[in-house]
Amino acid sequence: MTSSAVPFASPPGTALIVTGGAGFIGSCVVRRWLEITDDPIVCVDRLSYAGNLGSLSQVAGLPRFVFEQADICDAEAMTRIFRQYQPRAVVHLAAETHVDRSIHAPGEFIRSNLTGTYTLLEMARAYWQELPLERCERFRFHHVSTDEVYGSLGKEGYFTESTPYAPNSPYSASKAGSDHLVRTWHHTFGLPVVVTNCSNNYGPYQFPEKLIPLTILNALAGLPIPVYGSGENIRDWLYVEDHVDALRLVLERGRTGETYNIGGRSEQSNISVVRQICAILDQLRPQQTPHARLIRFVDDRPGHDQRYAIDCSKIEQDLGWRPQESFDSGLRKTVQWYLDNGDWVNAVSSGEHRNWVNQNYAHRLSA
Ligand code: NAD
Ligand code: TYD
Repeated sequence: MTSSAVPFASPPGTALIVTGGAGFIGSCVVRRWLEITDDPIVCVDRLSYAGNLGSLSQVAGLPRFVFEQADICDAEAMTRIFRQYQPRAVVHLAAETHVDRSIHAPGEFIRSNLTGTYTLLEMARAYWQELPLERCERFRFHHVSTDEVYGSLGKEGYFTESTPYAPNSPYSASKAGSDHLVRTWHHTFGLPVVVTNCSNNYGPYQFPEKLIPLTILNALAGLPIPVYGSGENIRDWLYVEDHVDALRLVLERGRTGETYNIGGRSEQSNISVVRQICAILDQLRPQQTPHARLIRFVDDRPGHDQRYAIDCSKIEQDLGWRPQESFDSGLRKTVQWYLDNGDWVNAVSSGEHRNWVNQNYAHRLSA
C-alpha cells in the first residue's frame, strides 16, 4: 500500500528511504528531517503492533513525504521501492525491539531483524551496483542499532566501539547478527555503510510496553507499576531527538565502514526512573496518595542485563555531537506529552498491546 495526499516527486538520487519510519525513533526521524531539511522521505514500514500512522499524521500531506506499507523481508517489494524512488540513502530502523517479547517469542525477531536486514542489504546492493559513479560513491546504507549488542557491564566501565559483542537476549542477538551482516556487506561487497549503536531512548510516541511510557500510563490509570527484580539495573537514557540529530550527523558526515556509539551520559537505575516519573506526576496530576504507592517489585526478566553505559567520545570528537536535553528536562517533556496526547495513547492502548501485556504479565503482577 502506498499513501500520499499529493504525488511524490523527487529527482533521482535525492530521496531517503527510512525503514521503520512509523515506529518510535523512525517517526521522529521522519518528522524532524522533513521539518529541518529539504530531504524527500520514503517511509517503509510493515505496520506491526508498534508501527503507527498516528505518529506521522503531522507530515501525511507533505509533497516530500510518502508512506509505503511493506515488509523489509519482501524482496520484490524492496526491489520495486528502490527502483521507483532512486534513493541517495537508506536509514534502516525497522526491527522488532522489545526484549521481553523476544524472550517470549523470538521467531519474529529472527525474521525481521536478521532476514529483513539481509533482504534489505541485498536489494540495496543490487540497486547501488547499477548507479552511475557519482551517485554510487555518495550512496549510504545507515544501519541503526543498539548498545545491547555489547552485553552487560558491571559497576565500572563503558561500551566503546571496540567492545567485543556479547548479546544476551534474543533481541540483542538478532541486532548483533544484523550489525555483522551490515559490516560484512561493506567488507566483502564494498557497500558504503555506517552503523550506529545507541543507548536507551525515551520521549514522545514511544509504544507503552517500554519502561518509561508504561510507567507513565500505568501510574495515570492507577495500575501497578512493575519493576523487575531489585530495580537496580542501570540504563543510559537519551532523549529521542538527540539520537535523531546524531543519526543525521553520522549519515551526512560519518566515515563509511565505521561504527559510532551514541549515548546520553545519563545513567539511571530503573527504580530511580520510576520514582522520578511518579514525582513529576504528583506535581502535574496530584492524587490523595503519591503515585509511587503503585510500584510493585516483580519477578526479574530472565537474563536481565545489569548495566549499560556508552562512551560516546568518538561521535563527540569526530562529528561534534552533544546531547541537548538533560534527563530531568527530557523526562518532564515526555510525561507532559503523554498527558497532552490522549488520542494517540488511547489508540495504541486499546489494541493488541493491552492483550499481550495481560496475557504475559498477569503472573508477574500477582507475584
Ligand atoms: P519500534 O518498535 O517503536 O518501531 C519499529 C518499527 O519497525 C515499527 O514501526 C514496525 O512496524 C517496523 N517494523 C518491524 N518489523 C518490520 C518489517 N519486517 N518490515 C517493515 N517494518 C517493520 O522501535 P524503535 O524503538 O523506534 O527502534 C527503532 C530502531 O532503533 C530499531 O532498529 C532498534 O533496534 C533501534 N534502537 C532502539 C533503541 C530504543 O531505545 N528504542 C535504542 C537503540 C537502538
Ligand atoms: P525496556 O524499556 O524494556 O528497555 P530495554 O530492555 O531495551 O533496556 O526496559 C528498561 C529497563 O526497565 C530494563 O532494565 C527492564 C526494566 N523494566 C522494568 O523494570 N519494568 C517494566 O515494566 C519494563 C517494561 C522494563
